[in-house]
Amino acid sequence: QAPPCTLVIFGASGDLTKRLLMPALYNLAAGKLLAEDFRIIGVDHNENTDDGWRRDLTETLQSFTQDHTSEFHPDRIDDAVWGFVRERLHFRHGDFSQAATFEGLADALTGNVVFYLAVSARFFGPIVEQLGKAGLLKQGEGAFRRVVVEKPFGNDLASAKALNATLLAQGDEGQFFRIDHFLGKETVQSILALRFANGLLEPAWRAGSIAAVEITAAETIGVEGRGAFYEPTGALRDMVPNHLFQLLCMVAMESPGSLDAEAVRDAKVRVLAAIRPIPPEDAVRGQYAAGTEFGKAVPAYRDEPNVAADSKTETYVALKLTIDTPRWDGVPFYLRTGKRLTDRVTEIAVHFRRPAASPFGADTTPDTLRLRIDPEQGLSLDLNAKRPGPEMRLGRVVAAFEYGDFFHETPSVGYETLLYDCMTGDATLFQRADGIEAAWAAVEPLLQAWRDAPVAFYAAGSDGPEAAADLVARDGNAWLPLD
Ligand code: BG6
Repeated sequence: QAPPCTLVIFGASGDLTKRLLMPALYNLAAGKLLAEDFRIIGVDHNENTDDGWRRDLTETLQSFTQDHTSEFHPDRIDDAVWGFVRERLHFRHGDFSQAATFEGLADALTGNVVFYLAVSARFFGPIVEQLGKAGLLKQGEGAFRRVVVEKPFGNDLASAKALNATLLAQGDEGQFFRIDHFLGKETVQSILALRFANGLLEPAWRAGSIAAVEITAAETIGVEGRGAFYEPTGALRDMVPNHLFQLLCMVAMESPGSLDAEAVRDAKVRVLAAIRPIPPEDAVRGQYAAGTEFGKAVPAYRDEPNVAADSKTETYVALKLTIDTPRWDGVPFYLRTGKRLTDRVTEIAVHFRRPAASPFGADTTPDTLRLRIDPEQGLSLDLNAKRPGPEMRLGRVVAAFEYGDFFHETPSVGYETLLYDCMTGDATLFQRADGIEAAWAAVEPLLQAWRDAPVAFYAAGSDGPEAAADLVARDGNAWLPLD
């Protein structure tokens, strides 16, 4: 069980609170992981009351039982479980830029507090400064004060450094929990176990056995009304230095030696620091043109609301990365992500080398291990096997499992572990300042090179621009089909 604490949510009326934080708290309450003395204070600039906020959240939660597109869709809301959370909810009206909001909070708060910044990124710095000024980040005897910051953490190296400096002027590194929601996915966390708990995989996880690694985060959705955010952001900033690099770290890091948060985070930062500067010719930027989503016509990115008619923002990125460590000597890492692609797939494909000396000669097809992260959750391994019959002929077989076939799944929207870890003080799944900066530093040359660079168009509902296929074909490789 988490220690008693108060969770203060800035952005109480926002989408993140409704869609993910409340369902996650519900699931934690169902697992009896919240302390009796737990309470939640929601702060936002709209007028509301405790009862009003409780009613709003109850209605939203109820609506999820009918909404199968939501990550959270229980058959019914359990009154006792939701009652536990609901009666602990308190609403405070407050302007995030006014000192009075924070002075009021200082009077209301004692003991352990987690401040959750479920607000637009432009408020991160100002809120943390106000928390500091009001004395809310001073940790007393045995009482913690922590701050959770959501992505996006800066929009380039300079702004990320400035934000880190603002935070660290008000508190210690250990008080800041920078979330990357991909790390809340069970399948991402399980990569560490697969790699380092299996004697079969660990020795093979290096250049001698692996020829290439492919990391894909493909989506079918478009920008979904987020044009105003997406236009100055684009797919590179939105997905690469954060989500895709987290997957890259999990797959490429050296053994952390222990599961201690600092050991794991040190190992991850070392991978990011070892990414060789990406030459522009090893990167492809694309933008979706009109096309289809599952047979239905959908507009071009340029015709989406709040998007410029001549926008050069990329909605697709493909990259070839080189990691300068002995383990990965000469192994290309291909990364791709995009919106409005054929299918929703997040996965890592590890392509093994052919056996060095095989009596089957060059007939063997290289083995591929696919770590399926989302929406399928499991693993599959494509191997060569003998076809039945009098002749010795090879065929392809697949050994596969889904986690759900072996483990009883605990309902999760991906924020349960993150919230719980923050309350218990386990920082393993959170980004340290140096990790954030190392990731931005790795993409910074590309951000510069891509100012005003043209985009390659791809039809909505396709596998992305032709140029992305060419990028890997240069090395004699091909992307796996998106399915
Ligand atoms: C978010 C991005 O951080 O991650 C979105 O801002 C993207 O553009 C989303 O759609 C993808 O996350 P998931 O968990 O749906 O794969």
